[in-house]
Amino acid sequence: KVSSMGLTDVDLSAARKIPRLNAAVLGESQATEDDNVILPSDQFSSRAHVSSYLQYLEMYQRSIEDPAGFWSDIASSEFFWKKKWDQQVYSENLDVRKGEIKIEWFKGGITNICYNCLDRNIEAGLGKKIALYWEGNESGFDGTLTYNELLHKVCQLANFLKDNGVRKGDAVVIYMPMLMELPIAMLACARIGAIHSVVFAGFSSESLAQRIIDCKPKVVITCNAVKRGSKVIHLKDIVDAALTESAQNAVSVATCLTYENESALKRESTKWKTGRDIWWQDVVPKYPTTCTVEWVDAEYPLFLLYTSGSTGKPKGVLHTTGGYMVYTATTFKYAFDYKPSDVYWCTADCGWITGHSYVTYGPLLNGASVVVFEGAPNYPDPGRCWDIVDKYKVSIFYTAPTLVRSLMREGNEYVTRYSRKSLRVLGSVGEPINPSAWRWFFNVVGESRCPISDTWWQTETGGFMITPLPGAWAQKPGSATFPFFGVQPVLVDEKGNEIEGECSGYLCLKSSWPSAFRTLYNDHERYEMTYFKPFPGYYFTGDGCTRDKDGYYWLTGRVDDVINVSGHRIGTAEVESALVSHPQCAEAAVVGIEHEVKGQGIYAFVTIVDGVPYSEELRKSLILMVRNQIGAFAAPDKIHWAPGLPKTRSGKIMRRILRKIASKQLDELGDTSTLADPGVIDQLIELADR
Ligand code: WTA
Repeated sequence: KVSSMGLTDVDLSAARKIPRLNAAVLGESQATEDDNVILPSDQFSSRAHVSSYLQYLEMYQRSIEDPAGFWSDIASSEFFWKKKWDQQVYSENLDVRKGEIKIEWFKGGITNICYNCLDRNIEAGLGKKIALYWEGNESGFDGTLTYNELLHKVCQLANFLKDNGVRKGDAVVIYMPMLMELPIAMLACARIGAIHSVVFAGFSSESLAQRIIDCKPKVVITCNAVKRGSKVIHLKDIVDAALTESAQNAVSVATCLTYENESALKRESTKWKTGRDIWWQDVVPKYPTTCTVEWVDAEYPLFLLYTSGSTGKPKGVLHTTGGYMVYTATTFKYAFDYKPSDVYWCTADCGWITGHSYVTYGPLLNGASVVVFEGAPNYPDPGRCWDIVDKYKVSIFYTAPTLVRSLMREGNEYVTRYSRKSLRVLGSVGEPINPSAWRWFFNVVGESRCPISDTWWQTETGGFMITPLPGAWAQKPGSATFPFFGVQPVLVDEKGNEIEGECSGYLCLKSSWPSAFRTLYNDHERYEMTYFKPFPGYYFTGDGCTRDKDGYYWLTGRVDDVINVSGHRIGTAEVESALVSHPQCAEAAVVGIEHEVKGQGIYAFVTIVDGVPYSEELRKSLILMVRNQIGAFAAPDKIHWAPGLPKTRSGKIMRRILRKIASKQLDELGDTSTLADPGVIDQLIELADR
């Protein structure tokens, strides 16, 4: 039993149960013989927010035994509330057998997340601190905004939105590249209680239209074009097409605010619809630089973010204000061991959850200086990231394994050419990081001095769920290590029984945490069906996971029909539906295959209509169909011609077999006796390389 940190009576039996790491994590021994365990340096640990496993354990234990006390202490000491929440800090029902699924945190509390990101920090003296460093696609194009300047810009846009009829509760769709105007737009919405829905600017017009039709925004905010690497992409044209399609579906958007991204495309060359389209630069700067805050309940919606599931159309994940605010800020602080002197860069795009929680809200709530990068990480050459790290003295660098792997292939010289002395902490997100990429990231990029926070979480969870706390314990390359405060991971077997100790199973979470998503927009039933029905009593993550003998968690990938391509979630059903909308495609089945750089690639089995010959042209037009309907990032890597698909007698496609054929594991096809027509297998194998 220990009593540091003012907490007493902490039972260490949990730590003692972790045999081999006992000595290491409890600080009883310095070195370990085991090459698979990497200890933080004493120097790092001694300065970290959480310096030891023991300290973590005390805090973790309290967060589980007294979540209300744990989170309300943080919420009241570190944030501004116009009014304190009701007596009950949280209420939840995660058990479908007990009625409707419901999660609420800080209900009755009145706050505003934009106020907490900007005004509160400015009042604390950070007005002149750099909030955003912007680095353009082309070297030499850059800019900065202090907290004061950011607030002014946010207020101007907020006033514009109000003036154009946007009221509390209205949706605003944002379709922009990584300009400073993207976080500005998010914050402006939050300031006036509008619900933003950012759509990643790599999505096609059809995907954008689908989202616009679903959430019916008052205003769409975009930009005329963007340069990605050496390619110019005309975003405004994509928006135009999406707005035309939405109008045909009875959703007409009155205002399209367009930022002129001069370095990519001049305004004269931009297609324009007078009356609907407005140039940002012409109007927004004319508005006042102050704007009163719309105070909202902690449970008031903050944003919608569409994400792919295993079936059907994308789901609008809904996050609310108070719990999301408290949780993203707290996870940012601890998982990156954030200190006020840090410069932080996350390479994610604000079109994904990582850009919401860990480009915009989490860091700004902490008063951090954040790098926003518009370009491609390998342009003009694969050293660009380290050039940026040196230029801004980045100390916390957070990225995805796919980028690590692709840069690793280019050789160490691109890295070692730069100093990278400023780096202190590295982070990884989006997919499991394979140990060899982890080691390269750690040894070459971080020169063996920067702990890596391999953060496991999801759009639905809002913030980190399982993550290292740098400096607190030994790392194992490829493991996300231990749960964050308040998070209770459980592994269950197929029947939903909790399994203990060293084991593998389906990863579920027990009890809620402040930033859990509250529903799927307009579809609470699907929310319950997808996440809470599979294993009653738990939130089901869709991921498989192994817990090793030391209690470390190892994420093993999706167990549903979701493919993770370069950290982007893509539903097999979405790709299939795009393929079958091709007039010459009769049927399609899509599976994920291992891909050296992207983590997973998309492998599509396609049956074409009778009489149509296979051709390269047809293959290309099938791929184009997917690019047009979803986006370039979802384009199949392989089209495998399939005269027939392996189906059970009841007509169900046996993906297990398709996965084996796709990965050429032909001796592992398993039992094929339940197939309606076992002959299709030989046909498929024969056509593998056609
Ligand atoms: C995967 C991204 C292993 C996982 C934040 C999850 C990871 C899905 C990790 C969510 C990680 C994310 N290790 N797998 N560190 N981080 N994943 O919603 O399969 O885009 O379910 O959120 O990405 O993807 P999403």
